[in-house]
Amino acid sequence: MFIVQRERGYLDPPGVSYLAKRLNLRITDIWEVATFYSMIHIEPIGKYHIQVCKTLSCKLLGADKITKYCAEKLGIKVGETTADGRFSLSEVECLGSCGTAPMLQVNFDYRENLTSEKVDQILDSLP
Ligand code: FES
Repeated sequence: MFIVQRERGYLDPPGVSYLAKRLNLRITDIWEVATFYSMIHIEPIGKYHIQVCKTLSCKLLGADKITKYCAEKLGIKVGETTADGRFSLSEVECLGSCGTAPMLQVNFDYRENLTSEKVDQILDSLP
């Protein structure tokens, strides 16, 4: 799924059909897995996927404020992509970095112990 996603930008219906045929599985088997995991995208997504953890440790230490700050800074809501296609914003379940909450993930990189100033630095540093 990652390979198809990397090649096509997201896991689209032709990609799902290809995987089902290649792996000798039903198309519904592929969709079931694809829709379960937040790292698999079934719609086009921005160049930078900002995923803010919303689970307990992060929530207790300010994840809601971080999400709100990201949304305001990017001018989009959770689940949306900026008009220029650069950023998508999501809330996700625990990313296993609870000791450094609140945290978010930009594509595959973890950014931890967040404050609004740190979010500014992170987003402003992306090429
Ligand atoms: S609760 Fe956020 S990383 Fe675990």
